[in-house]
Amino acid sequence: MKPPMPPIQRIVESLHAKLKENHDGEVATYIPELGKADPAWFGICLVTADGQIYQVGDCDQDFTIQSISKPFVYGIALEDKGKDAVLEKIWMEPSGEAFNAISLRPGTGKPENPMINAGAITATSLVNGEDTEQKIARIVEVLGKHAGRALEIEDSVYRSESSTGHRNRAIGYMLRNFEILEEDPHATLEAYFMQCSISVTCRDLGIMAATLANGGVNPCTGEQAVSRKYVENVLSVMGSCGMYDAAGEWIYNVGMPAKSGVSGGILAVLPGQLGIGVFSPRLDPCGNSVRGIETCREITRQFGLHMFQVPRLTTSVIRRVGSRAHSRSSRLRSPEEMDALRESGEAIRVMELQGDLLFGTAEFASREFTVTDEDVREMVMDFSRVTGMNESAANVLAMAFSTWLESGRRISICRCERLPLLKEVLHKCLPEDWQKVSFYDDMPAALEEAENVLLDELNLRRHSAEAVGLGQCQLMKGVDVESLKVIEELSERMTFSDGDSLMKVGDPPDGMHFLLRGKASAWIETETGNERRVATFSPGMTFGEMGLINDSPRSAEIRADSDVETLMLSMKSFDHLQLSGPELLNTILGNLSQILSDRLREANDELALINA
Ligand code: DON
Repeated sequence: MKPPMPPIQRIVESLHAKLKENHDGEVATYIPELGKADPAWFGICLVTADGQIYQVGDCDQDFTIQSISKPFVYGIALEDKGKDAVLEKIWMEPSGEAFNAISLRPGTGKPENPMINAGAITATSLVNGEDTEQKIARIVEVLGKHAGRALEIEDSVYRSESSTGHRNRAIGYMLRNFEILEEDPHATLEAYFMQCSISVTCRDLGIMAATLANGGVNPCTGEQAVSRKYVENVLSVMGSCGMYDAAGEWIYNVGMPAKSGVSGGILAVLPGQLGIGVFSPRLDPCGNSVRGIETCREITRQFGLHMFQVPRLTTSVIRRVGSRAHSRSSRLRSPEEMDALRESGEAIRVMELQGDLLFGTAEFASREFTVTDEDVREMVMDFSRVTGMNESAANVLAMAFSTWLESGRRISICRCERLPLLKEVLHKCLPEDWQKVSFYDDMPAALEEAENVLLDELNLRRHSAEAVGLGQCQLMKGVDVESLKVIEELSERMTFSDGDSLMKVGDPPDGMHFLLRGKASAWIETETGNERRVATFSPGMTFGEMGLINDSPRSAEIRADSDVETLMLSMKSFDHLQLSGPELLNTILGNLSQILSDRLREANDELALINA
């Protein structure tokens, strides 16, 4: 059975069918070679910021990129010369005039923006390269990175434009006259004509647009084509000047940064979401593809893509917030420690974030740092479900952390490995205090440390470095000295190093361990194949005792978190113990059921909270 057509594909196909009937506009002929284009050609290509491609029509038809090369070459100029040097030569204002107007700013002779020919020619001159050849090689290479394939120059169009490009030559000499071009413009003009003659397809335009939408990284190849920091500059001039003297109408009706070319291409970008490529050679009087404009207007209308559409503030950025009572470490604690944490757990605040952290959502989350409750001593933040973060969000959090730390409180941050920007900004914004921020690979470890600090403050913690005797083990509560000796003789004293595995998933339940010194944790494998720590044992606790009740294989791996010493009582020895009389057995099993019911209560509380 044929798989159902993806909804987006169905919509672009119906759009293509509808707009194919529009025969308005004229194919450009002022560059003679362009006049050979088939006016019926029409392709639409949508590429999502993660590389999903939807295309219909003439998407593999070659045509020359023309002015659509300009935003990309502007990006190269920014990379090669830096923003200040580029702004010295090219301004950022819409000219309100045609793309080939000889419009330079009075006095300085600076072109108004890099999207009109004067600004574009200047941008080409700023590309690194001793001569035309080197410059154009760099341009073809970088545009190829955006398209995700090696591009070539259509020589026939280049020669056609070079032999008729008198207006551009005039612009070139005007720029030379104002020292905007610092050398004879010939080499730069040839490079400019060549860049306009780079052969692309509608599919290439879609991918190039998606590369900008994806912060400069080509979503199909994963290659960085332009630095993220320059993408917003490129999109800004595309937004304000990309459609020339129709830019206002475009931004009003379509609402996306875009760039058109006289061979009939239009490229539009919805930052963070989508790239659009359209190709149809018939142009309107402004030199923009008629069907291209219609297609983008319809797509914006049907999908609600206008970038000034006001997004709803997503308060769901906070998945869960509460005190330690809400989120516990996996560390199994003594009853005294548990009671203390139950009583004073409010001192630890736990916040789980999710989704994209932008200014609005970070600001919302930062309000949690304005709690006035004096008892709150620590904030533990879980970033494992945060999918992205921009600089302003990182700055907002850094400012919130700063006041929080100044108040003498602590911060623990978990699972931010996919957000390097956060550490970078914290380092920059909190030069002194950033050391006070603790980073963890998993929440249980962070919560455990927060609990430890709180228990230390309450002078109640049993340190895992403290060695205990068998008699101090929870399972041995109420067992007399003689019996303890018997059990010790029946048991094997074992030592393990940090990281050793004491028992593996699936192992037969051949014995249980009394943990006398050190720390060990139980790990399970989640459905996604990740490992998850589910319990941490400290001296006085036992693990593997489930074998006393049933002989199911081990359901978790026990791994040493430090050098560990245990007493291992095999099931055989335990059976032997039963000969010592029912009393001992009752005591041990009584303790076991107490331990298991405590853990069950913990787990129920946790479940109740997870499903709250
Ligand atoms: O410089 C020119 O005139 C052409 N190579 C490019 C102009 C262009 O694409 C204008 N866009 N609508």
